[in-house]
Amino acid sequence: MREGGLHFHFYLWLVFLFALTVASFGLGVKNQSVRCIAPERQALLDFKIGVGCDNSIGNVVKLDLDRIFITGEIGSSLLELKQLSYLDLSFNHFHKIPNFIGSLSDLTYLDLSDNFSTGFIPHQFGNLSRLLYLDLSYNYLWGSIPLSFDNMPALQCINFEGNNLEGGIPKSLGKICNLKELNLKDNELSESLLVVVKNLSGCAKDSLQALILARNQLTGALPNLSILSSFQRINLRGNNLEGGTPKSLGNICNLKELDLTNNKLSGSLGVVVKNLSVCAKNSLQALLLARNRLTGALHDLSILFH
Ligand SMILES: *[C@@H]1O[C@H](CO)[C@@H](O)[C@H](O)[C@H]1NC(C)=O
Ligand SMILES: *[C@@H]1O[C@H](CO)[C@@H](O)[C@H](O)[C@H]1NC(C)=O
Ligand SMILES: *[C@@H]1O[C@H](CO)[C@@H](O)[C@H](O)[C@H]1NC(C)=O
Ligand SMILES: *[C@@H]1O[C@H](CO)[C@@H](O)[C@H](O)[C@H]1NC(C)=O
Ligand SMILES: *[C@@H]1O[C@H](CO)[C@@H](O)[C@H](O)[C@H]1NC(C)=O
Ligand SMILES: *[C@@H]1O[C@H](CO)[C@@H](O)[C@H](O)[C@H]1NC(C)=O
Repeated sequence: MREGGLHFHFYLWLVFLFALTVASFGLGVKNQSVRCIAPERQALLDFKIGVGCDNSIGNVVKLDLDRIFITGEIGSSLLELKQLSYLDLSFNHFHKIPNFIGSLSDLTYLDLSDNFSTGFIPHQFGNLSRLLYLDLSYNYLWGSIPLSFDNMPALQCINFEGNNLEGGIPKSLGKICNLKELNLKDNELSESLLVVVKNLSGCAKDSLQALILARNQLTGALPNLSILSSFQRINLRGNNLEGGTPKSLGNICNLKELDLTNNKLSGSLGVVVKNLSVCAKNSLQALLLARNRLTGALHDLSILFH
């Protein structure tokens, strides 16, 4: 697997020297807009440039080395790039996420997704206070989400999809007031949904638009989801949720997609639909309830889709 792989720190120095010599790319990424809804991710990935420099200071601010299939360790020479604000090392094969990435304090965009590495999420990432976008999806990360994510006020998008993360969602994530999307699909989270929602009900509840927790092992009944009033997408497909109809869905006025497929929910379809009809009626585009134990009649749906 390592055959033909470039050693990263060597490569990095080449890139670094090259960038310093040709410091005129003018690809400032100081004001990048971050969008994190899944289909747009590919577009972000396709936006491959390599190295970007900030004209005014002549330093490397952007390093994009995705899909060049480097293997090995990331050398700490990366730390020389003190002004680095954009780092994309996705689709490579490193052994481990180095803790020192938490010292690249100017980072606003960090993508270490796709078979990058194994191990824990370094708690040092909690020091990346300017980060807007954090993508660690499709690695082999285990353990719980670090409690240290409490100094990341700018963070808008967290994507940890496709790992082996367990436990719950720490309260600190619920205190990120700019958080728009939290994607933890395909992990091993196994706590009660009630506490998960409680933990998210800091100021993040007013900014969050998408909560994607599909295919975990969350338990318990559907709590009152009305506190998540800014939500547009809620995906709880494939968990172990059970019990009767939700306490309330009545205040979620921008909801576009609610996916509760493949749980053990019982109770009345009519009540769910009536709750949704209070406010989400005009925004709702997809309601997925298959493979549960709901009862009721199809005409119950007529209030929603007329
Ligand atoms: C970023 O750019 C957008 C549009 O180009 C602008 O509206 C916004 O104010 C800028 N934000 C910052 C922080 O410069
Ligand atoms: C990631 O690893 C899995 C399992 O080893 C493999 O099936 C998949 O093709 C790999 N993906 C990439 C992008 O390398
Ligand atoms: C953040 O950085 C400070 C010093 O810069 C250090 O003392 C602290 O341990 C770091 N925190 C984490 C979570 O790494
Ligand atoms: C809630 O947050 C606390 C503190 O961060 C954490 O210990 C606990 O595991 C979280 N619970 C759930 C269900 O997410
Ligand atoms: C659900 O929460 C909303 C907002 O916090 C509140 O107004 C409503 O009374 C609650 N509904 C139930 C049935 O607990
Ligand atoms: C939603 O349904 C619950 C019964 O589960 C009911 O108590 C509540 O009043 C309903 N809320 C709205 C806003 O319709």
